[in-house]
Amino acid sequence: MSSQPNNAIPKYLQESEVSQECKDLIATLPMEKGWLASHLHQYQGFWYFTRQLQGVLSCQKHFNNSLNSDILIVTTPKSGTTWLKALTFALLNRHKYPKMFENHPLLTKNPHFLVPFLELDLYNDKDLVPDLNSIPSPRLFSTHLPYVSLPKSVIDSNCKILYLCRNPKDTFISLWHFTNKLKLDGTSTNSLEDSFKKFCNGVSICGPFWEHVLGYWKESLDQPKKIMLMRYEEMKKNPSFVLKELARFVGCPFSKEEEDEGVIDDILKLCSFKILSNLEVNKKGKLSSGEEHRAFFRLGEVGDSNNYLTAEMIEQLDIITEKKLGHYGFRF
Ligand code: A3P
Repeated sequence: MSSQPNNAIPKYLQESEVSQECKDLIATLPMEKGWLASHLHQYQGFWYFTRQLQGVLSCQKHFNNSLNSDILIVTTPKSGTTWLKALTFALLNRHKYPKMFENHPLLTKNPHFLVPFLELDLYNDKDLVPDLNSIPSPRLFSTHLPYVSLPKSVIDSNCKILYLCRNPKDTFISLWHFTNKLKLDGTSTNSLEDSFKKFCNGVSICGPFWEHVLGYWKESLDQPKKIMLMRYEEMKKNPSFVLKELARFVGCPFSKEEEDEGVIDDILKLCSFKILSNLEVNKKGKLSSGEEHRAFFRLGEVGDSNNYLTAEMIEQLDIITEKKLGHYGFRF
């Protein structure tokens, strides 16, 4: 682990700002180079950059009051988290902000501010444990944690989990762009070939990708009232259908009047890539963890990976996906 001066670099790269407990654990964990900060650490079967691991440990230890009314957005990184956060926030707050294009919080706040990450935001500081008791219900949080690593209180409560994933080809390309943008020093850009090898071997942020998806896929079959699984591609293809399903799942379905008045279309428009990515707040500014807001908006399309991956790479990812997920009845 490096020990850089901390005020010069963004929080997500501050590797020395972790607790002694985290440092001791890291000394025992498998380690790999790459992607974002100098190392990834494998904890409970999944890979995290150093600062993220601090947050994982802290939220596992301290997020012990998950409520039945909580809603947790869980995603594999780069599968559309920002979009789902915006949609869910707008859905739950539609009565509070009926004039969506006038005074809606999404017009002035980034979706990650409105729906904070447990491990990357709320519990990311080694010395601070947030008091979340005063947040009105339903509380809306998010995480990239795999099912096996969720805090025990999340498993034990009847909170709702909204799980979103995206086909691994586009997820990989999106992650490759994102991490290169966030690395800061243009000199050490991750090469596509090297990153691809790592991704296929399961070594990516919160990877292995396939095991992450599989964990939630299996649980969503066993616990359909608790976990709703969504695919980015489905959301792009039929957003109003997915939004209606989502509304029903979290217990606030759209009324016939709302449908007739165009509330669904308004929410979809407000949360569209075109609107969100062009808002001033999302063109500048940073998250509390240091990432620039604009890094979360690139292209927002299905199939962009075809512009980057060779036919062999595509075939290789398809084979892995079929082998690891198709066998369990899951396909993108
Ligand atoms: P691309 O890099 O393929 O463009 P996450 O939010 O999980 O970090 O995922 C980021 C990906 O979602 C990026 O994909 C980003 O462009 C896309 N995205 C962000 N906002 C979106 C929106 N409102 N609608 C659709 N896609 C969106």
